Parts: sequence; structure tokens; C-alpha cells
Amino acid sequence: MVSRKEWDRLAKDFEREVCDITRETKTDIIARLVKSLPLSPEKSVLVDLGCGLGTFIARHGGVFRESIGVEHAPRIIARAKKNLGRRKDVTWLTSSLPPAARKIGRRADLAVCMNVITMPGAKTRERMWAAIAAVTRKGGHALIAVPSIESDRMVERIAYGATRAEAIAAAPDGLVDRGGAKQKHFAREELNDLLARHGFRTKTLKRITYPWQKEGLRKPRNAGTYMPWDWLVLAERS
Ligand SMILES: C[S@@+](CC[C@H](N)C(=O)[O-])C[C@H]1O[C@@H](n2cnc3c(N)ncnc32)[C@H](O)[C@@H]1O
Repeated sequence: MVSRKEWDRLAKDFEREVCDITRETKTDIIARLVKSLPLSPEKSVLVDLGCGLGTFIARHGGVFRESIGVEHAPRIIARAKKNLGRRKDVTWLTSSLPPAARKIGRRADLAVCMNVITMPGAKTRERMWAAIAAVTRKGGHALIAVPSIESDRMVERIAYGATRAEAIAAAPDGLVDRGGAKQKHFAREELNDLLARHGFRTKTLKRITYPWQKEGLRKPRNAGTYMPWDWLVLAERS
């Protein structure tokens, strides 16, 4: 698991070392999902849990009255603050998600959590899902991105020639080795179940594809139109 200290060490090279989905997604899918929500610049509240450099708030914060960025790595949040200058509509919390959620309370019209819930420990992840639920008001939405285990299995088959059974056996619990650290990858159904258990109804679940190079590979000759992907979920708090 990547610790807070290790995240902090990545602050300087964040753009090179870390996937910032808001910046790297080539389509306008995120903007379209945000636009589909009933938001008001006079009333609505955005909470970005694990906000990294604050890219989501920078791009989409304008349609909210207030934005709150939560990030546990002090050097990363320092960069986010610097990036967004002196915006009076943004509050920053240097904190892990569960205590921040208790502080914020159930106020978010949109809670965003992009590529944060990847830790290998099931109990730790459970606290992160609970934190998303704890900040999202009834009728509000959560926009969540997580790595896809189906994508990882596709890569195993296409790039490494694994059979379907071998690809499943490589990470039956979704824990994939990424540079020596285990990273949780989620299956579509698992995500739906998790969200339902935390009081959300999945409205949209989409793939956001990324280049093969991000897997450390050249596009395999047999890849055709296949590209690796993360899951992007929009869910409503019921
Ligand atoms: C892969 S980055 C994604 C950043 C941002 N959401 C984005 O899409 O660019 C994951 C971020 O979550 C933060 N993070 C990881 N675990 C956290 C936790 N328990 N509490 C708060 N922040 C956390 C990391 O420091 C890092 O900035």
C-alpha cells in the first residue's frame, strides 16, 4: 500500500508519476456527466475526496457555490492550493478521508473520488466508501473512478498471452501488483454491489480508456480496438 509519506514524495513529479483522470481523459465524458446533474452555482457543494493537484475543482468548481478539496499528502495539497490561487469558494482540508468526512458532514451535491480507493486492505477501503457516503446528501451524486479488473485481465490475455483462466487466477481478489505494491482493481458487479451497500444507486458506469503506454507497454499487434480502461461511475445517494 502506498503510504501518505510515499504519496507526499510524489508531489513534485505528480504529473509524470500519477494518473490525473480529469487532466488525462481525452473525451468530454466527465464534463458531460457533471453537466447532466441538477447543480446551482448559488447553492451546490462539491467535495473532492483525494483531490490531488485540484484539477477537478479547477475545471468544474465553477458550477458550485463552494468546493472542498480533501487530500492527506501535505505537499500535494500545497500544490493544489498554489494551482487554484486565492479562490474564496474553495476550502482545503489536509486530512485522510474518514476524519475529513466527519468534519464536512452530509453536504455534497457532488462527491468526487477519482482513483483513490485502490488500497489493498478491505477494511481500509470500506472506510473510504463510507466516507463518500458520509459527505453526500440525499439525492446528491458521487462520481468515482477506480481501476478495472476486467481491463487488467484483458491486458493479461492480449499482451501476455494468458488464457482467461490464467488471467483470473493472476489476481482472483482484484489485487494487482503495480511496481511492487498491490493495487485493488474492481469488477463492474462488485462496484454496483458496493455502491448499493453504501446507499447509492448506480446511474452510469462507463469505461475511461487510457493508452497502452500507461501499462508500460507498446500497443500489442493483436490489440485491435482494445485499450485498457478504468471504471467511471456516477451514482445517486438514495
Ligand atoms: C491517483 S491520485 C488521484 C488524485 C486526483 N483524484 C486525480 O484524479 O487526479 C490519488 C490521491 O489520493 C490521495 N489519497 C490516497 N489515500 C488517501 C486518503 N486515505 N485520504 C486522503 N487522500 C488520499 C493521494 O495522496 C493522491 O493525491
